Amino acid sequence: MAAPRPTVLVTGAGGRTGQIVFSKLRERSDQFAARGLVRSEESKQKIGGADDVYVADIREAEHLAPAVQGADALVILTSASPKMKPGFDPTKGGRPEFYYEDGAYGLDWAEESD
Ligand SMILES: NC(=O)c1ccc[n+]([C@@H]2O[C@H](COP(=O)([O-])OP(=O)(O)OC[C@H]3O[C@@H](n4cnc5c(N)ncnc54)[C@H](OP(=O)(O)O)[C@@H]3O)[C@@H](O)[C@H]2O)c1
Repeated sequence: MAAPRPTVLVTGAGGRTGQIVFSKLRERSDQFAARGLVRSEESKQKIGGADDVYVADIREAEHLAPAVQGADALVILTSASPKMKPGFDPTKGGRPEFYYEDGAYGLDWAEESD
């Protein structure tokens, strides 16, 4: 009898790294049951829109439950991207300043500690 396949949930599955990891796991469907987690329906469609892709914001624990339920392993590839503050003029020299959207700072830490 074949060994049971571990269920692996990839967060940020619509991101640059997440898409690669998610597709590699899917290619090995004899070894893994892959699940993806994305933030929007748009991202879900981008990676095929299958039923094994869940839509949730990782900052909202109650929405994560269906994706995490029964998962044996997590591959955490969710990441906040800082945005450049408007008004920076590269022709004037100096350095641009960056900010995180409300609540996004510490996203990686928050996810990994939950
Ligand atoms: N250790 C290594 O060698 C290595 C190599 C590569 C990457 N990494 C790490 O992997 C992480 C991802 O990098 P990346 O370049 O793939 O980033 P990326 O392309 O920006 O992807 C990040 C993903 O996170 C999602 N996301 C952001 N906030 C979210 C939230 N609140 N809830 C749910 N999803 C959210 C984004 O969704 P949206 O598309 O909807 O914004 C995006 O798809 C980073 O932490 C990076 O440092 C590590």
